[in-house]
Amino acid sequence: MKQILSKEERWNLNWSRTRASAEGYFQIQRPIPTLRRNITSKKPSSKCPRQLRTHSRLLKEHTTTCCVTSSKVNVSQPQRSTPRSIYDVSNNNILGFGANLSQDHPGFNDLSYKARRAWISELASAHKIGMPIPRIAYNQEELQVWKTVLQELRDLLPQHACKQYLQAAPLFNFTPNQIPQLQDVNEVLNRATGWSIRPAAGLLHPRDFLAGLAFKTFHSTQYIRHPSSPSYTPEPDLVHELIGHVPLLADAAFADMLQTLGEASLGVDDKQIWHLIKVYWYTVEFGVVREGSCVKAFGAGILSSFGELQHMSKGTAQFETLDPFIAQPKMSYKDGFQNRYFVLETFEAGRDMLQDYAMKAKLPQELQGSSTLA
Ligand SMILES: [Fe+2]
Repeated sequence: MKQILSKEERWNLNWSRTRASAEGYFQIQRPIPTLRRNITSKKPSSKCPRQLRTHSRLLKEHTTTCCVTSSKVNVSQPQRSTPRSIYDVSNNNILGFGANLSQDHPGFNDLSYKARRAWISELASAHKIGMPIPRIAYNQEELQVWKTVLQELRDLLPQHACKQYLQAAPLFNFTPNQIPQLQDVNEVLNRATGWSIRPAAGLLHPRDFLAGLAFKTFHSTQYIRHPSSPSYTPEPDLVHELIGHVPLLADAAFADMLQTLGEASLGVDDKQIWHLIKVYWYTVEFGVVREGSCVKAFGAGILSSFGELQHMSKGTAQFETLDPFIAQPKMSYKDGFQNRYFVLETFEAGRDMLQDYAMKAKLPQELQGSSTLA
């Protein structure tokens, strides 16, 4: 390890000791790897190994004093517990659309739908990391929803989805006659990119959701949208997760970009979390990527929606370059199709941009204060 690091831009692995942080992460002094270069103000190169980039962030947030070569570096006091592994990330901190659906949810007046959704959500809440994801016996109504959405998208996806999505999708062999089980999907992803799916009871709090990405874990709902509106759901559901998100998790470059976004969230304050979730929204949910003279969809909110995919492909919306360093537009689940899409040149360029953002600790003044979802 030390040799590998030394070869790469003269990064050096030294042993260091830290004092106890305010939260007690390093209450027992122990050796940890650290970087010879300044870890507080200058960004490490994107070539810096991922573990060390993450480690430098953790050092910044969880140590009151750390030894970098022979000099002491002052770093700020930690504000909260930063997860050190997926075991520190809760899948039970659900935002909105919990057991009591809002009045404008298509299933609001359907008691049997609400009971089934609640039952599937409870299974997700009870899931323990490392255990198989429970298999759900989806009923005919749910299967019909899946079939409808898959058929709606059958002709549009090959035309408008990005090439990485189209290359990865066959791994999962989605067919109209069966709703895939998350456990099976999980096994394919483990083999393809080392990512995992973890069931969640609903829309997870952004801090937990983003933290999961840092540990190559995608939190996914397991229930199906209401059968009265197969083409629309106001909340994430399994159809959206499978068609929109899953295939690209099997693409190494995309998965790397996603992990970078997750790493950027570790230990940041709430304002930055809400900023990052907007960056997530305009990339992972509604992003497009350039392919020659065209733009193609990679955002799950586009890929899993017949209407959104048609809308994006008409080219009538605005297409802009993503800049994570500036305030992002408000996002909404309910106001129709997006009126602007953000374009990445490549997933690798997106990853580098997010890495750059992640290493610049402080948000610009104009971003401080906004912390609402809609
Ligand atoms: Fe999503």
